[in-house]
Amino acid sequence: MPASQSAKDFFRPLAVGAPAPLTEIPFRPSRAIHFFDPSNAKMAAKIPAMVGTVDVLLGNLEDAVKADNKLAAREGLVRIGQETEGLGAGGPTQLWTRINSLDSPWALDDLTTLVAGIGDKLDVVMVPKVQGAEDIHYVDRLLAQLEAKAGLDRPILVHAILETARGMANVEEICGASPRMQGLSLGPADLAADRRMKTTRVGGGHPGYLVRQDPTDGSPEAIAAARTTYQQDLWHYTIARMVDACAMHGIYPYYGPFGDIADTVACEDQFRNAFLLGCVGTWSLHPKQIAIANRVFSPSVEDIAHARRVVAAMGDGTGAVMIDGKMEDDASLKQCLVMVALADQLAAIDPELKAQYDAIPAAEEASA
Ligand code: GLV
Ligand code: MG
Repeated sequence: MPASQSAKDFFRPLAVGAPAPLTEIPFRPSRAIHFFDPSNAKMAAKIPAMVGTVDVLLGNLEDAVKADNKLAAREGLVRIGQETEGLGAGGPTQLWTRINSLDSPWALDDLTTLVAGIGDKLDVVMVPKVQGAEDIHYVDRLLAQLEAKAGLDRPILVHAILETARGMANVEEICGASPRMQGLSLGPADLAADRRMKTTRVGGGHPGYLVRQDPTDGSPEAIAAARTTYQQDLWHYTIARMVDACAMHGIYPYYGPFGDIADTVACEDQFRNAFLLGCVGTWSLHPKQIAIANRVFSPSVEDIAHARRVVAAMGDGTGAVMIDGKMEDDASLKQCLVMVALADQLAAIDPELKAQYDAIPAAEEASA
């Protein structure tokens, strides 16, 4: 909220007739946000069958869509949104879009066309290359005007991609710029370019970013000898900062793209780092990344078994207990409650996961 604004006005609609802003952003499972190019007929044809198999389908209009195809992508998305059963508007799979950047020749028409055509289906608009709160304020007012014109009864939410150095520096004010803010994603490719990082990849690590074991002594032989090295996570600082900004504002952080589609192992590692640090989901650029994301962003059966035992053993939540030689107290209980709540929310939409969590023996829970 801008310092010059009264708290009382923050939740007023920004246009006459626009739906009232939400005071809380409800959690909706969004482990994988699967990107598709609506101008690609082959990809578009697969969308109806994907409904119900992935938490979010995102019609991408920005980077990766050729300039000549921008119009076809926008129109294709309207068609898909209108015709696809179960997509968006409370259906089993959310419908998101990534519009073109606000300084491009396409962003304005992206918003006017999409809200008029499929505003009632669209759950979230992802805005790329967000620099500061002013970008969110622009989209906020425009969406309110378009929602009023289209007669929508619920607000479309906004998700910002963190992919500029200025956006990174302004991350807290971006998260708090509008009640529409649903979350943030890391955009490692654009962010690397904007920061002038010396990488050429879309997300993931780099073998040159490492620490090396000390030499056994200062001799030339010891310095030249083979020493263990450990690759470090290039994105640790950025993701951790993004998670704090989102948690502070009650919105949701996501990892972004992992471009090496063939390296499913490193992809899983990157996703898991983000999950452990607090992210709720990630982008999927290929169907095989959906399964990885669903696995990684769902708490494991072992963690839920343990979390339930701690919850059962901690009674009123105060004091401390020992479980398997480890001290558990109010703070570890709170972590366990985060996990159990997430498991319940995911089980409600994923029968396979529900069966796995339901199969955890009840005796485990009480045997503290
Ligand atoms: C995503 O948009 C990125 O730039 O990584
Ligand atoms: Mg980008």
